Amino acid sequence: MKSVVAIYPGSFDPVTNGHLDLIERGAKLFDRLIVGVLRNLDKAPLFTPDERVEMLHEVTRPWPNVEVDVFGGLLVDFAQRRSATVILRGIRAISDYEYELQMAMMNRKLEPNLETVFMMPAVAYSYLSSRVVREVAQLGGAVQGLVPPAVELRLRAKVF
Ligand code: PNS
Repeated sequence: MKSVVAIYPGSFDPVTNGHLDLIERGAKLFDRLIVGVLRNLDKAPLFTPDERVEMLHEVTRPWPNVEVDVFGGLLVDFAQRRSATVILRGIRAISDYEYELQMAMMNRKLEPNLETVFMMPAVAYSYLSSRVVREVAQLGGAVQGLVPPAVELRLRAKVF
């Protein structure tokens, strides 16, 4: 039987409930789902790659077919190393589409056998992003319900 391995790549600085919603959906659809954490971000991250991976490990424990890995360089090379045939990405609103289309088409040009699959998170998370979570937390606002409790604690420790 063919087993489908998918990569869910991102910065995850930090993982939000929107990401988790997508991980849950992806874990149902694919045999294995590898959450791929991009090591070096253009902008200075709030959390180190190790911290971002640790948080993802903690919050993805409920799904035995989900694993977490870190990558640098091209996503298509990481997918090949991990024998993945699918890239999973979330689309929240039409505003995400242009960037996602560009990325999917570039990845297809680099590796035609790798398919990008888009899924929509629950509508309750359609306004949520790591960037707004970081900003709210850094300015002292409440992020309860937007990130898992373990991440909320780490955010509090980081910004105070
Ligand atoms: O969570 P993000 O920041 O939207 O994730 C973006 C990510 C990590 C998926 C993207 O930046 C990426 O794949 N980077 C790896 C470099 C790469 O392969 N670039 C070419 C594709 S455009």
